[in-house]
Amino acid sequence: MRQRNGSLVIAGGRPLKGTVGVSGSKNATLGAMAAALLVPEECVLQNVPDIGDVDQMAQVLRSLGATVEWASPHVLRINAAKLHSSSPAMETASSLRGSFLVMGALLGRLGEASCPQPGGDVIGQRPIDVHLSGFAALGADVSRDGDQFIARAKKPLEGATIFADYPSVLGTQNLMLAAVTARGRTRIVNAAAEPEVQGSAEMLIRMGARITGHGSHTIEVEGVERLRGCEYEIIPDRLEAGTYAIAAALTGGEVEVTGACPRHLESLTYKLRDAGVGVEAAGDRLWARSDGELRPLTIQALPYPGLATDLQAMVAVLLTQAHGVSYVHERVFDNRLLYAGELRKLGADVVTTGTTTAIISGPTPLHGAHVQALDVRAGAALILAGLAAATGRTEVTDVYHVDRGYERLDEKLRSLGAQVQRV
Ligand code: EPU
Repeated sequence: MRQRNGSLVIAGGRPLKGTVGVSGSKNATLGAMAAALLVPEECVLQNVPDIGDVDQMAQVLRSLGATVEWASPHVLRINAAKLHSSSPAMETASSLRGSFLVMGALLGRLGEASCPQPGGDVIGQRPIDVHLSGFAALGADVSRDGDQFIARAKKPLEGATIFADYPSVLGTQNLMLAAVTARGRTRIVNAAAEPEVQGSAEMLIRMGARITGHGSHTIEVEGVERLRGCEYEIIPDRLEAGTYAIAAALTGGEVEVTGACPRHLESLTYKLRDAGVGVEAAGDRLWARSDGELRPLTIQALPYPGLATDLQAMVAVLLTQAHGVSYVHERVFDNRLLYAGELRKLGADVVTTGTTTAIISGPTPLHGAHVQALDVRAGAALILAGLAAATGRTEVTDVYHVDRGYERLDEKLRSLGAQVQRV
């Protein structure tokens, strides 16, 4: 099994150069794995990233009775013919936020499900009222017993109009999973439009579901009696692609990112160009190059198609090298600037006002420091900061967070000329 622990030691100050391939999307894979629970036939997922969160989701599915096997690298076979439980194992499910998606799938397939309160990264309050009130609108009895949420349908679920208080990514996917076999039509109003939600809808359509409007903020689902197994290719990871584009810009390098979907990254590429980074896209390729002065930016992390919150920390690191004062507003989560304290250890001039705005003055020369990866994206951001630090060595600890979401990040960075070692 791949090593997913330890620290990364980085000797920065080298421009990244070369070509790097993008893996399948972490978050789209979690949705696809949950969808496979809806049918007794096999589902075969292609382009699956080999990352910690996928391993953990596989454990969650196995704890329900599904078999989950790697057929070959990046191809996952899931067979949920013999589910023996409607409640995933507490230890694995509670620490993986995406595991809560099994709730909608099990409710649709078995008419009942119970799941622990989902944990996940420390990035702010993460309520699940959108999921729970949606299940209730479809006719399920929703209750709580200690740490477990329980949803039970005494009769078949009935389609309904559901107004989501917030366009929650997992909430929207969970409601689609529950609604695809409900009787009649469901409308999810104020649905999330993220590409990962579109990916889930496309896999469900491949399984025989009738869904329209995915990718917009109103999704309609016409319930069907039966779904079938399918083969489905996971969409490229836009966040990984964005990470390499930002790394190129930050180190004054030139990187070609292949196997990406540039359309999913328009908000980032627009902002990078605004900062003076050369960005081009064609087909499934993206080029990012920077050799001049970076301009400061004001950015806002927003639901799609706004700038992804999952790229916010990395853009902030880039802005430490911009000439002037930048403003970073996090508008999705209420506590996703915790990395700022770690970034200051490398010499960045970052001031936070409250928990959602950071003011960054640049450029500041970064120097190596000992820092901790606090979550998957904050960890990636600190690794990028280490690559930009021209003096000293940076050690990023708790790299397992990063390995949960990035396939071989250290190896891929090395292939671009970075000096990164796992210790
Ligand atoms: N929210 C509500 N009510 C709900 C659910 C969410 O108010 O019932 C609010 C949250 O408080 C938060 C905002 O909605 O402020 C966004 O939460 P959302 O539910 O959309 O996030 P999520 O579905 O839990 C997924 C990704 C995250 C990504 C967010 C936003 C997965 C497994 N996780 O989380 O990914 O940041 O959408 O795009 O799909 C990551 O990959 O690093 C990561 C954290």
